[in-house]
Amino acid sequence: MSLSAAAPQRKKLRPSDDREPADRPGLLLEWYDRHRRKLPWRPLPGGKIDPYRVWLSEIMLQQTGVQTVGPYFEKFLARWPSVADLGRASQDDVLRMWAGLGYYSRARNLHACAVAVLRDHGGAFPDTEEGLRTLPGIGPYTASAIAAIAFGRQTMPVDGNIERVVSRLYAVEEPLPKSKPQIQALATTLLAATRAGDSAQALMDLGSTICTPKRPACALCPINDDCAALVRGDQETFPRKAAKKAGELRRGAAFVVTRGGELLVRTRAEKGLLGGMTEVPGSDWLAGHDDKAALKQAPELRGVARWHRKVGVVTHVFTHFPLELVIYTASVGARSRAPDGMRWVPIATLKDEALPNVMRKAIAHGLEDQGVKP
Ligand code: ADE
Repeated sequence: MSLSAAAPQRKKLRPSDDREPADRPGLLLEWYDRHRRKLPWRPLPGGKIDPYRVWLSEIMLQQTGVQTVGPYFEKFLARWPSVADLGRASQDDVLRMWAGLGYYSRARNLHACAVAVLRDHGGAFPDTEEGLRTLPGIGPYTASAIAAIAFGRQTMPVDGNIERVVSRLYAVEEPLPKSKPQIQALATTLLAATRAGDSAQALMDLGSTICTPKRPACALCPINDDCAALVRGDQETFPRKAAKKAGELRRGAAFVVTRGGELLVRTRAEKGLLGGMTEVPGSDWLAGHDDKAALKQAPELRGVARWHRKVGVVTHVFTHFPLELVIYTASVGARSRAPDGMRWVPIATLKDEALPNVMRKAIAHGLEDQGVKP
């Protein structure tokens, strides 16, 4: 990996432009001081930083956008104002408050982490990346983000936004994911000597407001003079990504069972695809699976004389494979019990369940006669 090879050639954008190479970290911080997003977990400029708020926001922001996280963050903070309060809460209360954010393993780890901070660290978060890494739910990215933002450590957490900004700034030709170490090293050069957390958040904000995936607003960018991709005019083509191998089509069945106004659901295993999320019972998803084989994996329920096979299929494309689901429906009587590991939920509250998109589609198809759109 060579950092210098990726350095942009400074092209004069204006005839009078013969200044010294720009102080990018300084320009970023100046821009951040004027244009930073107001987010609930950020103290006002000059305000005191609370590691608990930083940690809570970073865990919530894993796989969830800033807009969705805002109200959850406020709710958690109102109920549990400190990590010690959260450490003393019951896991059930935490999971209930988390409902709707999805990926429930995050909520379990959140609680386990608060318990560990209270029990093993006297209620104060460790202030180094290494120390933070020992806690449940804190991986390399999150440890770096908390260390920089809460404790001013010289480390740059590289998320998708920062990958995009940096890969454009230096026109990184190596495709992701192989380019990750190079991008990490280049991103680290954008850290200011002090205010590491603000350097990181400046890049995050720049990526989400100006250096956007489509139609970036380069004219407004504080470091546009130095951007290698802008000089070439192909900013939107970065970051380069390795062509995805199309996975083999998998097939399966989903069973949409109602009991009056309720639907039969279960929770997926914590580990693996869609871990901890809610689903209707279903068969395995296998290449070459056929409808009849899938039907053999129907849940055993009293009162189902016959499964009704809906016309058509539900399709979904996961990162690694496309999926085709046939939908079987049945309705059972009011006294029919849910099989082990399954439960009935009111159809009216399905919106509060952590349903992945593929399951929303499957349920909508199964209950289309009732006009249900979870
Ligand atoms: N995404 C993850 N952490 C963030 C932060 N601190 N500010 C804005 N977006 C983020």
